Amino acid sequence: MVSRRTVQGRPQEPADRWQAAWPIMVMCRDARGNAVVQEARCPHKGANLGAGRISRNALECPYHGFRFGADGDCEAVPCLGSEARIPKGLRIRNYPVREENDLVWMWWGEERESYPGITAPWEAARHTGVHATGSWQRPLNYTRYIESMLEFYHTPFVHSRVVDSAAPTTCSTARRGGFGGTGGSRYVETAKVVDHKVETEGTTLRSSFRLVREEDEDDPAKGEPFTIVFTFPGMVHVVNARFDFTMWITPVDEDHTQILFRWYEAAWLRPFLPSRLLRGIAPGLGTVLQRMGPEPQDMRVIADMHPKVSRRGAYKFVAADEMNARYLTIRHRLLHGDPPPEEHAPAQAGPGRQAGRAARTHVRTT
Ligand code: FES
Ligand SMILES: [Fe+2]
Repeated sequence: MVSRRTVQGRPQEPADRWQAAWPIMVMCRDARGNAVVQEARCPHKGANLGAGRISRNALECPYHGFRFGADGDCEAVPCLGSEARIPKGLRIRNYPVREENDLVWMWWGEERESYPGITAPWEAARHTGVHATGSWQRPLNYTRYIESMLEFYHTPFVHSRVVDSAAPTTCSTARRGGFGGTGGSRYVETAKVVDHKVETEGTTLRSSFRLVREEDEDDPAKGEPFTIVFTFPGMVHVVNARFDFTMWITPVDEDHTQILFRWYEAAWLRPFLPSRLLRGIAPGLGTVLQRMGPEPQDMRVIADMHPKVSRRGAYKFVAADEMNARYLTIRHRLLHGDPPPEEHAPAQAGPGRQAGRAARTHVRTT
């Protein structure tokens, strides 16, 4: 999947790392503006069609000029002339493509009669406003990346240096979070998870909780409310007073993960800024800062974790990790097709227990 704007009229090749992991593909738009994704190896002698051009609404090979239509069939063989009988097998694979949610979705598995629908959770699908989308790769396994997005209680330990952690987005919305001018620094002090709920609906997990500073433990209402939605195989949507973003997390290979990151405008800004152009500045900035600020801070810790590929049974989870535990359980079921031997709902810290108690409540995963 790529951002809609990424696919332009001219042929384009996916990034290098995709080429190493996948069959080489080329993306472009036909004369009607429809996105087209095709195999990029010319069946004639193997030239890279990504280096070709669009000619007469077909993809023209840069070597001998054979042209391939949007359905993959070869339409012209210039060296045989315009009357040439073109062999049926002279074609390139065409990948099914759909455009939804301002994204281009491609099916690169086995060909089928029909393809599954694209279902984005409503938290992501409902956004009609301005957003910015960025894309990049990180050198770690996708399971580790996904798990890093399923909780935020690492914030005071990983992102405590406010200036380095994309504080502008934090501080700019601090008033909304009720933290006044000190919003950024107060936010990075929140660690305790309260009012934690996790729901499972098919392959979607929804988690809501508040993060509370140590000094506010007696008044959890002062905490920062979060909602995290995860939908298999790799979509995460996070909403709170200062964030509203979606990430699509895709494995490239065992050691690399592709991130598609979308930051939405703050709805409360709309009445003050009618210009969509101006409203696009903050999401654009948020996307760049995410890539340069907090995420490299996360990478410094998670790229070095063991085991490299996350799995059930590898950890001693605590109550606040319920979403992570459910992620691993469902992933196991989807990969292996069998129900897990037992469900591993983490034990909850009951009312009145001491603050440290939850941290000692381990959740076994087998
Ligand atoms: S290699 Fe593509 S036309 Fe010859
Ligand atoms: Fe983080």
